[in-house]
Amino acid sequence: AFKLQNSSGSRDIVTVLKENDKNYLVVYGSQTGTAEDYAKRFAKELISKFKLNVMCADLEDYDFDNLHNLPSNVVISLFLSTYGEGEYPDNALQFETWLKSLDPFESNLGNVNFTIFGLGNSTYEHFNGAARNAWKLLKANGAHLVGKFGLADDGAGTTDEDYLSWNEKVIEQIKTFLKLDEQDLKFESSFEVTKLDTLEDNVFVGEPSSQYLPSSGKLPSNDEGLQTGPFNTTYPYVAPIVKSYELFDSKSERNCIHTEFDVSGSNLKYSTGDHLAIWPSNANEKVEQFIKALSLDGDMIFDLKAKDPTMKLPFPTPTTVEAAVRHYLEITGPVSRQLLRSLIQFAPNETIKEKLVDLSKDKDQFAKEIISKYFNIADTLYYVSEGKPWTTVPWEFVLEFTSKLQPRYYSISSSALTEKQTIHITSIVENTPNDTEGLPPVVGVATNLLRNIQLDKAGLLKEETSEVKDKVVTNIKDEKKEDVEAANEETVEKKETPTPTPKKLVTKKEHELPVHYDLNGPRDLFKDYKLPIHVRKSTFRLPTNPQTPVIMIGPGTGVAPFRGFIKERVKFQELNPDIKLGKHLLFYGSRDGNDFLYRDEWEEYKTKLNGSFEMVVAHSRLPNKPKVYVQDKLKEKEEEVMELLKKGAFIYVCGDAKNMAKDVNATIVGTYTRGLKIEDTEAREMVKMLKSQGKYQEDIW
Ligand code: 2AM
Repeated sequence: AFKLQNSSGSRDIVTVLKENDKNYLVVYGSQTGTAEDYAKRFAKELISKFKLNVMCADLEDYDFDNLHNLPSNVVISLFLSTYGEGEYPDNALQFETWLKSLDPFESNLGNVNFTIFGLGNSTYEHFNGAARNAWKLLKANGAHLVGKFGLADDGAGTTDEDYLSWNEKVIEQIKTFLKLDEQDLKFESSFEVTKLDTLEDNVFVGEPSSQYLPSSGKLPSNDEGLQTGPFNTTYPYVAPIVKSYELFDSKSERNCIHTEFDVSGSNLKYSTGDHLAIWPSNANEKVEQFIKALSLDGDMIFDLKAKDPTMKLPFPTPTTVEAAVRHYLEITGPVSRQLLRSLIQFAPNETIKEKLVDLSKDKDQFAKEIISKYFNIADTLYYVSEGKPWTTVPWEFVLEFTSKLQPRYYSISSSALTEKQTIHITSIVENTPNDTEGLPPVVGVATNLLRNIQLDKAGLLKEETSEVKDKVVTNIKDEKKEDVEAANEETVEKKETPTPTPKKLVTKKEHELPVHYDLNGPRDLFKDYKLPIHVRKSTFRLPTNPQTPVIMIGPGTGVAPFRGFIKERVKFQELNPDIKLGKHLLFYGSRDGNDFLYRDEWEEYKTKLNGSFEMVVAHSRLPNKPKVYVQDKLKEKEEEVMELLKKGAFIYVCGDAKNMAKDVNATIVGTYTRGLKIEDTEAREMVKMLKSQGKYQEDIW
C-alpha cells in the first residue's frame, strides 16, 4: 500500500500483458539495481525505435505459472544479475523457484521467445551463474532464444561495453524476428510531471522518515510502538546514528569510520554476519553541480504519474527536484555511452551534437575522454558543452535516464548476541585521487557521508578548508569508550614535530550537514543524525557448535564480520565459563599498523577467551620490511591450520575478491597438498567440497 506501488491488480504476467495491450515484455532480476537500469534503458529503446508496447517489470512483482499461454508474438527480454555463489538476486528468487519447478517432459514453453542478458563478475567462481541457469532451464522447457546470450563481466570492468555490443546485434535480431519497422522517435516521457504550488502538510520533502511514508501518512508500528518492516530495498528504517569514530591513527592519510546505528525503535533484527544497507544521499556540492549543469529548477514541487499503469514510479512523490536529485538519483557514478547517445536529440547546437555523436560512437575515445577522468554526468555535460550549462534537457528525461541511487552494503561488525539494539559497521572512506591532474578525487557517496556525520557530530566539520589545512585532528578513538559527545570536548588540535600528514578535513561546503531540503527554510535534519538502513541476510555464519575450530582471514576492513564473530564467542564464554571453545584463529592484514582496526579490543577478547582466540597479523608496508600478506602468514602456520582442518575447522574469508580471496584459496589448497601429501587436483576437490558443505565461507567483494 505504498505510494511507490503502481499496481494493476493481477500478479499473473500473461493477464497483465493482455489487459494492458502489451506486445513486449522486459523483466529484470537485480540485486543492486544495475540489471534494472539496463532493462529500463532497453525497454525505452524498443519503444522509441519500434513503437512497441513494452511492459518493463520487476520479476518479483509477477507470477509466471501461466507463461505457456503467452501469445507467441510477444518477446520476453530477461535481464538477470548473479549474486554471491552463482545465486539469483533476491527479487528473482520466486522466478527461480518457478523455473526450477518446471518439468521439461510436461511443460511446454514452445510459444516463448526470449532474449537474455546476464550481469556477472568473472572474479567469482560461478560467473553469471544465475543467467546461465535461467537460460539452460528456459531452453530445456522448449523456449526459443532470440539472438545471442548476452554476458556482462563487471570483473573486467566491461559491463557497459558488453551491453552495448550485445544490444547492437540483438536489436537487429528482434527487428527481423518481429518484422518491425525502425523509426527514430524523439524521447517521450513515461511519466506525467505535474507542477504543484505547495506541498500538503503531511508530505514533507526530504526528511528521512517522511520520504518513505506510505500514503496513509503514518509509519507502520506494532503494539509496543516499534516501527515495523519489512525493511528492505523498497522501504528502509530511518535509524539514528548513536556513535561514530575514526579507527585509523592520525598518522594514517586515510580514514576508516566505525558507525553505530540504533535500531531499538524498530522491530528490525539481524544475525551476526549479515550485511547492512545504507541509503546514502548526495553531497550538496554534487547536487548543486548537477542542478546547475542541467539548469533545473531545484525548488520546483512536482508530482509524478506513470502514463502506463504497469509501471512503477521511480521514487515517492510529490517532492522537489532538489530532493529527488539528492536522494534518488545516482549523479556521481560513471556515465554510459548510451546516455550520450540519447542526449544527441537535445544537443543545443551542431558542434555539441557532433561531439556527442563522436563520443557515443567511439568506445576508445569515450574511455579516454570521459571514463578515464572519472567524469560524472554533470562533468560530462560541461565537458561536451565547453562549460556552458545545458537548457535543453527536460526534467522528465533526467529523472528517467539517470540511474537510481542505490543502497550501499557493508559487512556488519557487531554481534547480534551482544549488540541487540545497535548495528555496527566499519567502512574505509573512499577518496581516490584522480589519475588526471587537476581533477577532483573520486569520492564514495555513502562513506563520505558517514565521515561527515562523524566529523559534524564531533564538531570538526569546518567551514573552510584553508582554516584547517595545517592542523591535525587527534584521533577521536583515542578517547576510547567515551561517547563521541564527550570525545568532542576533549578533542584537541595538536601540532607535532615532525608534523605527520594531515588528514583531509572535509569542508562544510563540500558536504554540508545538516542537509536542508525544507522549502520553508533550512531544517536541522541530521540534528539527531539519522540514515535510512535495512539489513540483508547473508549466509556468513559461525558454526553452531562453539567447540568447532574456526579459521578467519580478513585483511583490512575484511576483519569487520570477525569482530562480530569474536564478540559472539566472548559472550558465549561469559555465559558458559566451563566450556572449552574450539580454537579461533584470525589472520588479519594491515599496512603499517597505523591502520590497525580495533587494536585494543582484540587484546580484551584474547583475555576473555583464555587462549582459544589467537590473532596473527600480516603487515604489508612496514618501513624496510618485506611485504607480508595474510596468505603468507597462513602458509607459515600451515601445520596448525592442517591440524585444525582435520578437526573439522570452518574457514571464513572476508575482503577483496579479485586477488586476496583467490590467493587464500590457493594457499589452503597448498596446505592440503603438503599436509596430506596428495595431488593438487585432489586438494582442489577437497576445498570445493568444503565450500559446498558450507565449511569454507566467503564474504568478498
Ligand atoms: P597493500 O599494502 O599491498 O595494499 C588491507 O588492505 C591489507 O590487505 C593491506 O595490508 C594490503 O596490502 C593487503 N592486501 C592487498 N592486496 C592483497 C592480496 N592480494 N592478498 C592479501 N592481502 C592483500
